[in-house]
Amino acid sequence: MSETAKLIIGDETYELPIVVGSEGERAIDTTSLRQDSGYITLDPGYANTGSCKSAITFVNGEKGVLRYRGYPIETLAEQSSFIETAMLLIFGELPTSQERADFRTLLGEQEFLHTDLMHHFEGFPASGSPMAILSAVINSLGTFSPDLYDVVTPDRFRLAAAKLMSKVRTIAAFAFRKSIGRPIIYPNTKLGYCHNFLHMMFSMPYQIFEPRYEAIDALELFLIVHADHEQNCSCSTVRMVGSSEANLFASVASGICALWGRLHGGANVGVIETLQRIQKGELTVPECIEKVKTKQIKLMGFGHRVYKSFDPRAKILKRAAHKLLAAMGHKHDPLLAIAQELEDAALNDPYFTGRKLYPNVDFYSGIILRALGIPTPMFPVMFAIGRLPGWIAHWNEEFRDPTTRIHRPRQIYVGPHVREYVAIENRKG
Ligand code: CMC
Repeated sequence: MSETAKLIIGDETYELPIVVGSEGERAIDTTSLRQDSGYITLDPGYANTGSCKSAITFVNGEKGVLRYRGYPIETLAEQSSFIETAMLLIFGELPTSQERADFRTLLGEQEFLHTDLMHHFEGFPASGSPMAILSAVINSLGTFSPDLYDVVTPDRFRLAAAKLMSKVRTIAAFAFRKSIGRPIIYPNTKLGYCHNFLHMMFSMPYQIFEPRYEAIDALELFLIVHADHEQNCSCSTVRMVGSSEANLFASVASGICALWGRLHGGANVGVIETLQRIQKGELTVPECIEKVKTKQIKLMGFGHRVYKSFDPRAKILKRAAHKLLAAMGHKHDPLLAIAQELEDAALNDPYFTGRKLYPNVDFYSGIILRALGIPTPMFPVMFAIGRLPGWIAHWNEEFRDPTTRIHRPRQIYVGPHVREYVAIENRKG
C-alpha cells in the first residue's frame, strides 16, 4: 500500500499521498487539499513547495551534489563540451558523434541574425543594459519564425532550440559591441561555439582575435556549470510563462528578465563590485564581514536556497579561475586573492557557518569572466547563455507533460473588506 501523510484540522483527518522521487526525495502531494478541506498551503518564496516532477537535474543541497540527467557535474565539467551538455539537457541523452555533428551544423546554419532584426540594436542607447537588450531581442526573434511558436513535432522543437542556442551568442556579442561603439563582427561558422562567441566579442574588422585554448576551455566550463539548476527563479519563470502555452521564445525572454536580478544571475556583478571596493581601499575584509553580520549588506556570491554545504559549481570554478589566471600569466589578479581572503574570513565566522552560507556559483565566476576580457555588465548575459539549455529543456518537459496545468498559485488575502466607492469630489485629502 502506498504511503500517506495525515493532516488533522479540528475533527477532520485528511490523508495526503506521499510522492517519492528516484533519489528518495519525499513530498506530500497536496493536489486535492483545497478541494477536500477548503485549506491551501502558504509557503512564501516556495521554499517547501515542489512545483513539478522533473527528470532533468538533481540537486542534493546537503551533500553538495549536482547531476544533469544523472551525470555528475564534475564529470561533465571535466569531460564534456557545452554543446554536448546542452544536448544532454535538452534531448535527454548524450549525443552520438553523428548527432553532435548534425546539431553543430544546425547551429552553424542558425548563427546569423535576420537583417531586420539587426535594426533593433540601433534603437537601444549605448548605455542600455545588455540583459534588457538580450531579453528584448530574444523575444523579437520569435517574430521572425512564427511557425516555431508551435513546436509540437520533435523536428520543430529541435530547430527552435538550435535557433535560440546559436543566436543567443550572436545577440549577446552584438549587444556588447553596440555598448562600446565598436563595429559588429559577424559569426564565423568554421569556429566552435565558444571560439565563435569570443571572435564576435573581440575581433576587429581588420584584426581577427585568436583566443588561447585555455580561454576557450574556461568558457566551455563556465557555460557547462551554469547550464541548469532545476527549479531556480529563472527556470521557474520559464516554466510558469510556458504553462500558459506561451511560446518558447517568449518564455525564455521572461527567464532572462528573472535572471537579471542581483539575488540570482546578477549576483556575479555584486561579487566583483565588493571585491573592487576592497581593492580600492573603500572597505576592508573585516569591515565587509561586519557589515554583512549587522545586515547592512549581503555578501554576494554566498548562500543558496538549496545548498547548505559547498556549491559544487563554486569548487569547480575556483579551481578553474586559478588555472586560467596561471595560463594567462595573471597569476596575481588581486581580486582572486581578495576573494580567497573574504571566503576564508566568512567560513571562519559563526554568522556564516551557523547559517550554512558557503560560496555559490557566482563567487568565483566573475574572476574567470574578467580574465576572458568580458566586462562586468555582460556577466549576467554570460550566465544567461549558459542557462539557456536548462530553460529550453524545462520548457519542453512541461510542454510535453500531459498533466501540466497553468501555474496559478493561490494567496491569503489580507487587504480591506468590501468598501463603498466614493466619488472623487467627495474624497477627503
Ligand atoms: N549574505 C548575508 N546573509 C545571508 C546571505 C548572504 N549572501 N544569504 C543568506 N543570508 C542570511 C539571511 O539574511 C538569513 O539570515 P537570518 O536567519 O538572520 O534572517 C539566513 O542567512 C538564511 O537565508 P535565507 O534568507 O533563508 O536565504 P534564501 O534561501 O531566502 O536566499 C539567496 C538565498 C541566494 C537569495 C541568498 O543567500 C542571497 O541573497 N545570497 C546573495 C546573492 C547571491 O549570491 N545569489 C546567487 C545565488 S546562486 C546562483 C543563482 O541562483 O543565481
